[in-house]
Amino acid sequence: MARSKEFRKADYFATPNCFGKDCVDKKGKWKAHFGNDNPLSLELGCGRADLSLAFAAMFPERNFLGIDLKPARLWKPAKRMQEEGVKNIAFIYMHLMEIGDFFVENEADELWITFPDPFPKLRHAKHRMINPPFLALYRNILKKGGKVHFKTDNLDLFHYALEIFVREKNITLLEISFDLHNDPINNEVIGMKTEYERKFMAEGIPIKYVCFLFNDK
Ligand SMILES: C[S@@+](CC[C@H](N)C(=O)[O-])C[C@H]1O[C@@H](n2cnc3c(N)ncnc32)[C@H](O)[C@@H]1O
Repeated sequence: MARSKEFRKADYFATPNCFGKDCVDKKGKWKAHFGNDNPLSLELGCGRADLSLAFAAMFPERNFLGIDLKPARLWKPAKRMQEEGVKNIAFIYMHLMEIGDFFVENEADELWITFPDPFPKLRHAKHRMINPPFLALYRNILKKGGKVHFKTDNLDLFHYALEIFVREKNITLLEISFDLHNDPINNEVIGMKTEYERKFMAEGIPIKYVCFLFNDK
């Protein structure tokens, strides 16, 4: 039975390990929250959190946080987490511009950004999850050497990201592919498919991927 948005939102907040603004007191204490010293990976704009759910099973020695600005959208992965008894995931409902309210400097070990909305109109560029203001926030919360993995189907957004990376000057590219799933660099981690990735692949669209780090930390 389809559930209303209001139901999903309320049920999300009633589910353990599903947070919103209520978890800002965990800033700097995420390791304590998970009760271990394991590395922390963040899936930004996670939607159904396919990566976090798959990686949590694959890497029990890591912790994962799925982040999205739509709590009703986080309901499904939250239910999966609960039903499957996954202990190394939590979810946070937030706008990514607020990410500094939830994490201290150097708290995250790795970031995943997959298939963000491309916002093709120039006047909407401020919403692109890979634009300079977002990158500055990511740089701050990432530890030295922490990797950012970025995937998109959208060639214009990929070109935009690459231009930004060159201009920002503090970014080192570690891997790049214009067709990840037909590239020798592909493997079971970077090739893990999200909901949107499956959809775009079914349409025959090559998946663009870049992995980078901030070199000025
Ligand atoms: C196109 S979906 C991709 C979902 C998922 N990453 C995937 O690959 O299947 C983009 C997601 O990013 C979220 N999003 C967009 N802007 C955001 C922001 N500023 N802060 C947090 N989440 C955001 C949307 O709510 C949506 O769930």
